[in-house]
Parts: sequence; structure tokens; C-alpha cells
Amino acid sequence: MNATGRILLVEDHAPSREIMKKALEKVGHTVVDVGSGREAVEQLSGGLEADVVVTDLMMPGMDGMELLKAVKAMDSTLGVILVTGHGTVESAVEAMKGGADDYVQKPVNTVELRRRVEVAIQRRSLMREVAELRVRLDEKYRFGNILGKSKAMQQLFEQLQLVAPTRSSVLITGESGTGKELIANAIHQNSPRHNERFLPVNCAAIPADILESEMFGHEKGSFTGAIGRKIGKFELADRGTLFLDEVGEIPPDIQVKLLRVLEELTFMRVGGGETIRVDVRILAATNASLEQRVSEGKFRSDLYYRLKVVTLHIPPVRERREDIPLLVDHFLAHFKKENARDNLTLSPAAMRCLIAARWEGNVRELRNLMESLVVMATRPVIDVWDLPEEYRQLPPEAAEEVLVTTGPVRTMEQIEREAILRTLQETGGNRTKAAEVLGIGLRTLQRKLKDYGEPGE
Ligand SMILES: Nc1ncnc2c1ncn2[C@@H]1O[C@H](COP(=O)(O)OP(=O)(O)OP(=O)(O)O)[C@@H](O)[C@H]1O
Ligand SMILES: [Mg+2]
Repeated sequence: MNATGRILLVEDHAPSREIMKKALEKVGHTVVDVGSGREAVEQLSGGLEADVVVTDLMMPGMDGMELLKAVKAMDSTLGVILVTGHGTVESAVEAMKGGADDYVQKPVNTVELRRRVEVAIQRRSLMREVAELRVRLDEKYRFGNILGKSKAMQQLFEQLQLVAPTRSSVLITGESGTGKELIANAIHQNSPRHNERFLPVNCAAIPADILESEMFGHEKGSFTGAIGRKIGKFELADRGTLFLDEVGEIPPDIQVKLLRVLEELTFMRVGGGETIRVDVRILAATNASLEQRVSEGKFRSDLYYRLKVVTLHIPPVRERREDIPLLVDHFLAHFKKENARDNLTLSPAAMRCLIAARWEGNVRELRNLMESLVVMATRPVIDVWDLPEEYRQLPPEAAEEVLVTTGPVRTMEQIEREAILRTLQETGGNRTKAAEVLGIGLRTLQRKLKDYGEPGE
């Protein structure tokens, strides 16, 4: 296979630079050459698209090692090959330790240089493919903005797909912070009504005496203070979706009116005699047990049964811990971007603590924690001791099961398997070459192939 790419060549000694440039161009690479580390950084930050940086180690000013660090900080997938002095094994070792992808020794053998460059280009394109595969896998684990790979969430996504396009009312139940409003929004967005309004009404936040007029509107003079006609939420949401949040808090007299809208799609404004017909889809949410409110006589049973025809229940986070790594990664990436903290990562030990934590505030709590961890981070790695104490209480071993059975471990294995098989295909079955491209030992590759049930050579 002949991979050509874009190479940034850095060498202060002009004659050597010319030789290397020619050698690389001759086999089809595009080469941009500069005489110092400083210029190289400027090229890259100026938007130069490169696949590989080939740099001399010993240069005045910014040397090869410093450049290596700067390059990796800008784009960790960019390959760097260091050109080291003749016979200086130490500097070659240092280079590899410093994160170089490869090295060639001076005097540079052009055949050797071309081969190393080709491998680096292939490795980079493979890394990109792996990243893309990962994104595609991620897509499987989301429905709009809702993330979840647990069985419960996957089932919920299936139900959402079925119910969203209909005009059925849906009751969404779940503890605080589990994503009820997010789900309601997703239902609206995936319905034929998505170009019309999605109007949330928080039934617990609005005082009971005002709620009726908020929902249904009122006529001028219908009560003291009704100085003009008011259009209620039901009329405003006509042809769209009305989201009744904390529906259990609706007072009994309004419940009657609500039932009527649900069944006949008509109502009257407060103090009005005109029957108003609307086309509104009703979504409702509650974190209290409606059943219990029915048995206490606080919620009409006919309305309850009318609302719960389609019920979607979102389990609390502690009952779907497989979702935690996904959510943590998602919010970490989100807040890293928002705060321009690209280099921040979370240690595996800290992730284990988070997987095992209580999460009484569910996804909202998780989101808030990730934001504060990113904002408050003083080191590039967020580790166990950076977590507030309550997240370090449970033995992190509780997380092992999640990680081993369903966590990212399995996902990465799948990705690795695909990468290996694809590389083998590209090398025409040449295992030595495939191992080189993948940057793993031949024996490792053979062992993995055996695990996949591929016949030996
Ligand atoms: N599965 C999920 N994937 C991504 N983000 C989520 C998920 N579930 C919840 N969130 C996020 O968590 C936060 C809380 O979600 P939301 O407001 O929908 O919860 P809620 O159930 O309505 O809470 P409450 O009962 O307190 O009103 C939001 O920022 C939401 O975007
Ligand atoms: Mg809510």
C-alpha cells in the first residue's frame, strides 16, 4: 500500500532539509519545510493541515523535543518523527519516551525515512477511523440529546420512537433530575408538531388560584384584577405541545377542566361562555407517585387513567450505572469546550468512584458536578482527591462489575477488533506489516486474531 500525505519538515541545516524534502516529494508526499521549531508551530497554529511532522532533534532555539511537546498539545493525533544524531541511542530513547511516534538516525537513509513516514501516515488515518467508529457507536447510545446505553434507556428510546410521532398523551415519571423535561422535548421534536410550540407549564410553581387562568386564559372583568382578556397556555400551544410539569400538583377543580380538554379538546376561558377548540398534544410529568395521590383523594382517578395510557418511566441513575461513563464523558467534553480546557482528562480511578456514587440528584447532579470539576481543576488530570468527599464514600470496587460487563471496555474491544481486521485487509493479509501500522507487536496481533477465531498463518 502506498500512502501519501502532507508532511511538515523541520530542519535548521538547509542542505539536509533539501535532501529529505526531495526524497519525500519523489514518492508523492506534499512537503512544507521550515528551518526552526518556532516556524513549525506558527505553520500549524496558522492552520497548516499536516499528517506527520518530521523534525530534527538538535536545533537552536526551540529544539525537537520542545516542538514535539507543542505539536502533541495542539493535536495529539498528529504523528511526529524525530531525526536524531548518529549513534545517540539515549536521545532516541528520550524521543520515544517524550511521545514521538518514531525516530530516524542521521545520516538519514531515504528509504528508511520514507518507510517510517508511510507508517506514521497510515497510523494517523487509522486513528481517525477509530475515532469515527467511536462516534458511530456513540450515536447508537443516544436519542437526540438523550444519552443512555443501559438496557432501560435503550428500551426507552424504542418506546420514544413509537410514541413520539403520534398525538397520544404521555405521562413521564421519574425522580428529580432524571431527564423528564428532556424526554418531553424529544417527543415534541420527533413529532409532526416540531415546527409549532413546545410550551412547558410548571404546575407546582404557579399559585393554585392563578393556574386556571394561566392555563385557560380569562375574559376581561372575570375576577378582580382581570383588567383585560388573557390568552392561556392551551390557546398559545394550539397545534403544538403542552408540557404539564409536576402534573400531580394541579388542584381538583382544574383537573376537571383538564380532563375535558383531553377528551373533547374544548374548554372555556375563565369567566367566558365561548367554547374554544384547540389541537394540543399533552405531555405530563411527575416525580411524585400519582397513584398515591389518587388514593389520598388528591388526584382524580379518571384523569389519572386518561394520562397514563402511555407511561414512560425513567429509572434513577443508580439503577442504570452503565450510563454513568457515557454521561460523565459527555458532560466532561461539553464543559471542557465551554471553558477552553482541552487538555483535561479524568483518571480511571475517579471514574470508578463516579460509577459507584449515590447520585440522588440523578443526571442533573452529575452534570453540575462535572461542570464544577472542570471549572475548578488545577491539574490536567481530575483524580479521586479532586472529587468532593461524598463521591469518595462508596468502595469503587462496586464499579468494577459495570466496567467489566457493560462498560467502555467492551466497546473499545469492538473498536480494536474492527481496526485490526480492517488493517489486515489493507495490508493484504500481511500480519507483520499490519502489526507495524497498528503499533503493536506481531505476537500480540496473532494472539488477538486467535481470540477472534481467525485461522493462523
Ligand atoms: N439521559 C440524559 N442524557 C443527557 N442529559 C441528560 C439526560 N438526562 C438528563 N439530562 C440533563 O440533566 C438535566 C436535568 O434534566 P431534566 O430537567 O429533564 O430533569 P427532570 O426529570 O425534568 O428534573 P425535575 O424533576 O427536577 O424537574 C438537564 O440538564 C438535562 O439536559
Ligand atoms: Mg423537570
